[in-house]
Amino acid sequence: MRRKKNKEFNNITIERVGSKGKSIGVADDGKTIIIEGGAPGDVVSILTTKQRKSYYQGKITEFHKYSDIRTTPKCEHFGVCGGCKWQHIKYEEQLKFKQSEVENNLIRIGNLDLPKITPIKAAKNDYFYRNKMEYSFSDTRWLSVEEIESNKVIEEKNALGFHIPGMWNKVVDINKCWLQEDFTNNIRNSIREFSIKNNIPFFNHSTQSGELRTLMIRTTSTGEIMILIQFYIDNKSNRELLLNFIRETFPDTNSLLYVINNKANDTIYDQKVECHYGNSFITEQMEGLKFKINAKSFYQTNSDQAYELYKIVREVSELSSSDIVYDLYTGTGTIALFIAKNAKKIVGIEAVPDAIIAAKENAINNKIKNVDFFVGDMKSVFNNDFIKANGNPDVIITDPPRDGMHKKVIDQIKNIAPKKIIYVSCNSATQARDLELLKDDYDVIRSQAVDMFPQTHHVENVVLLKKK
Ligand SMILES: C[S@@+](CC[C@H](N)C(=O)[O-])C[C@H]1O[C@@H](n2cnc3c(N)ncnc32)[C@H](O)[C@@H]1O
Repeated sequence: MRRKKNKEFNNITIERVGSKGKSIGVADDGKTIIIEGGAPGDVVSILTTKQRKSYYQGKITEFHKYSDIRTTPKCEHFGVCGGCKWQHIKYEEQLKFKQSEVENNLIRIGNLDLPKITPIKAAKNDYFYRNKMEYSFSDTRWLSVEEIESNKVIEEKNALGFHIPGMWNKVVDINKCWLQEDFTNNIRNSIREFSIKNNIPFFNHSTQSGELRTLMIRTTSTGEIMILIQFYIDNKSNRELLLNFIRETFPDTNSLLYVINNKANDTIYDQKVECHYGNSFITEQMEGLKFKINAKSFYQTNSDQAYELYKIVREVSELSSSDIVYDLYTGTGTIALFIAKNAKKIVGIEAVPDAIIAAKENAINNKIKNVDFFVGDMKSVFNNDFIKANGNPDVIITDPPRDGMHKKVIDQIKNIAPKKIIYVSCNSATQARDLELLKDDYDVIRSQAVDMFPQTHHVENVVLLKKK
């Protein structure tokens, strides 16, 4: 098949933000152009990178006018790293896009009648808001255009940073990341420098060799720190050298862990986590509740906004002490435990066994007795026998993954007809699709977006439904 020649379009005005935060313009021939980067209001020249019947994909080759909604990105790695792609858009404008994306999805995909939408809950901190970061070691770092064009011999090729989007074997070395509290930049940079100075081999993704694989840093709002180093092979003297250095240099670390992982991929979920120093966990707190977080635990990555989200869920659910509540997709049970004192009983269901073990432990540690947690795939567990055994819910809170709920789960919710449903979603398109299936039986009473991830296009949305 002959490839079509890339086309050039000049003076394209970026009109709006499309899905996944990309920019949208219209080409001279009337077709939509989906553009990486840019901001609504920019006037640009485009070179197409893909041509389809109804649209093009393209990249910006020249700016003719910069949009008024732009701001200067704070991060020196912006544009290469791919982590916070909206840093060039003012925060208040990011919020407007997020709010209108949610509203458009609910109207266009869900065909829903919406009440007046409450304004999006902005984040208190639009930088340094994450409590967990994962970095990769690489012995062949990503070189900038300037480095390549300088023709200088590159002395230092090791990197500790993030994978370039779409490039599994290229890592951009990170000097300062604006996502996690600033002191964690010093931890990462010190680990890199010490490892280079002591010739501890960084990982090579192409040949699968080297020793140092990944670094994870987790923090809590109470000031606790977890550091985990993942090694590819176990060289005891290098491992102890590095871990002892971390322990001595960062004595406030509460949990210093390591994993030896010689599988092809670097996920640690099926690996044994060893403790070098301190506890195997850190403890997060929310309104006096304590949540134990180990290396594998899921915990919302923006603690401040998770608290705002949970308060909204509690507020809109208006629970009474006689209510039976189901918390579907409960994770480590944080929503269930957060609302437990407002209801008679909470039943949490979740697919990941470790998360349910943590949820049960969190219930015991917080002396919460009116919660029950069950593990399994939602569409199988949430059946008639289960409901008979655990009681018909008055209220269902559901917080599914990005794909939304399985149709069988939606049918079961319709079947048991709770008086209220609170649907929390990190993907308003699948949320809208699911809500359309409930719309004959339920009215949308409130829709409230929450910004958990400033500088990105991601947005969380809470919808309250009441039985007609
Ligand atoms: C968005 S998280 C919910 C997090 C939780 N509500 C919280 O605030 O911490 C979605 C959860 O659904 C779980 N999950 C995904 N697919 C599932 C399924 N088919 N059945 C049950 N749980 C599932 C995931 O493991 C994850 O914990």
